[in-house]
Amino acid sequence: MAKQSIKFSCSNCNYITLKWIGCCPECKEWNSFIQLEQPILTPGNKTLSGSSKPLVMKSLNQVSMTQQQRMLTGISEWDNVLGGGIMPGSLLVLTGDPGIGKSTLLLHIAYKLAKKYSVFYFSSEESLEQVKLRALRIQSVHDNLLFSDQAQIEGILQTCQEQKPNVVVIDSIQNCFFSESHSFPGTVGQLRETSFALMRLAKEHNIAIIITCHITKEGQMAGPKTLEHMVDGVFYLQGEDRWHTRILRSVKNRFGPINELGFFAMSSTGLEEVPHINQYLLDEATDAPGSVLVGCLEGSRPLLLEIQALTVPTKYGVPQRVVTGIDHKRVVLIAAILEKYLQIRLSSHDIFVKVSGGLKISESSSDLGIALSLLSSYFQQALPKKTMALGELSLTGNIKAINGVEHYIREAQKFGISNIFVAEQQKTANSCKKLKNVYQLLSLFDASEEPIEK
Ligand code: TYD
Ligand code: MG
Repeated sequence: MAKQSIKFSCSNCNYITLKWIGCCPECKEWNSFIQLEQPILTPGNKTLSGSSKPLVMKSLNQVSMTQQQRMLTGISEWDNVLGGGIMPGSLLVLTGDPGIGKSTLLLHIAYKLAKKYSVFYFSSEESLEQVKLRALRIQSVHDNLLFSDQAQIEGILQTCQEQKPNVVVIDSIQNCFFSESHSFPGTVGQLRETSFALMRLAKEHNIAIIITCHITKEGQMAGPKTLEHMVDGVFYLQGEDRWHTRILRSVKNRFGPINELGFFAMSSTGLEEVPHINQYLLDEATDAPGSVLVGCLEGSRPLLLEIQALTVPTKYGVPQRVVTGIDHKRVVLIAAILEKYLQIRLSSHDIFVKVSGGLKISESSSDLGIALSLLSSYFQQALPKKTMALGELSLTGNIKAINGVEHYIREAQKFGISNIFVAEQQKTANSCKKLKNVYQLLSLFDASEEPIEK
C-alpha cells in the first residue's frame, strides 16, 4: 500500500522537506514552512497507471517546419540585439536597475509591434493612468496595443489563451502571482511557477512574451538560476545616471548572437536609438591633454572610445587611483610600467582615469591608449586631435600586437582618424605609426617639461 507522507514546503523558495524546520536550508528564510495537503509520491506509491500512453518518437526528418517570420519593430538597435527581431513563441527577459528605462523601452517596442501585431501589455507595477501618462509623453498610443494592470497570473494566462495576442509584455514578473500559491509575489517559488506557466503559454500558443525582471544588489538578474535556463533570451539594460546613454546587452539568446549591444539615449520623449554610436562618442571627444582614443569590440561592433586621464601631484597621504570603466588594477599596472622604464614619478601623483560615454573596457588592446593618456596628462601636453592607440603592453615594456586591429582602423577611417599608433609587429596595410616599446612613447612628448611638484 502507498505510504502517505506529509510534506512541508518553503513559502519563499518552494523547498520541500518531510518534516517541519524553522530555517529553510535553501533560502535561509525563517518560519517559512507550511504543510501541504497532497501526499508526496515516493517510489513505493508511484504508479504508471492513468492516462499516460507510450509516446510516439519521431526522427527529425518527420518533423515539419513552418518558416517563422521574426517580428521586427523598426528600432534597429533592438532588432539587431535580438538577432533580427523577436521570434514568435519566445520567452524573453529584460532586466536592469530600477529607473533605467525598462518600461519606457518596452512601451516603445510594444507600440511599434502594435502597428502590425496584436499586443497585450500587463503593467502590474503601474496603474493604467500612470502608463497612459508615459504613453502620451512618448507618443505610443495605438488601438492594437491593449493594457491591463492585472497581476494575477491565472487571469493573464486565461486572457491570452482565449484571445491569442501575438505579443505579451509583462512588467514585471516580480509582481505577478498565482492566487493559489502559498508564497508571496516576487519570491523564488512564485517566480519559478509564474515563469514556467508563461513559458508554456509562449510555446503552446506561439505567443512572444517579454517580461521585465528586477536586479539584485550585485547587478544580477533577481530570481532563481532556473529562470535564466528556462527563458529563450536574457537582455540587460545598463547605463549610468550621469549619462543619457543606455546600453542593451544580450547575455543569452537562443535565436541570435550574445554579447551584442544596442545603444539608446534617454530624452524627454523616451528612449531614442543611437544607431551611429561612434559618431555620438567621437562628438564628445576632446583634444585636451590626457585624451586618447582606443578601440573595443562589443559583440560585432567596433567601438571608438575616448580614454581620459588626469594626473596631479599628491598633496596628502597615499596617492589616489580613481578609475571608472576599466579594471583599476590594469591602470595601476600600466602606471608601474611607465614609472619603471621611463623614470617618471607617477607613484607620487594621484591618477584619475575614465572611459567616455559611461562604457566599460575589458580588453587589453587599450593598454597603449591608457599609457599615452597618462603621459599626456603627466606632461600636460595634448596629443594631436583624434589620436588613436591600439596595442597591448607587456611587463617588459614592449608593445604587443592585438587581434582584430583592421576592424578598428576601418571604423576609425570613416571618421577621418589617421593618427593611429600600433605595435611594431602589427601587420596592417595602413599607414599607422609603429611603436616597439614604451621608451618610444617619450619621443611623442617634450619630456624636458616635467611637472613641477610643490
Ligand atoms: P522607467 O522606464 O520607468 O524605468 P524602469 O521601468 O526601468 O524602472 O524609466 C524611468 C526613468 O526614465 C525616470 O527616471 C524618468 C526617465 N524618463 C525620461 O527621462 N524620459 C521619458 O520620456 C520617460 C518616459 C522616462
Ligand atoms: Mg518599470
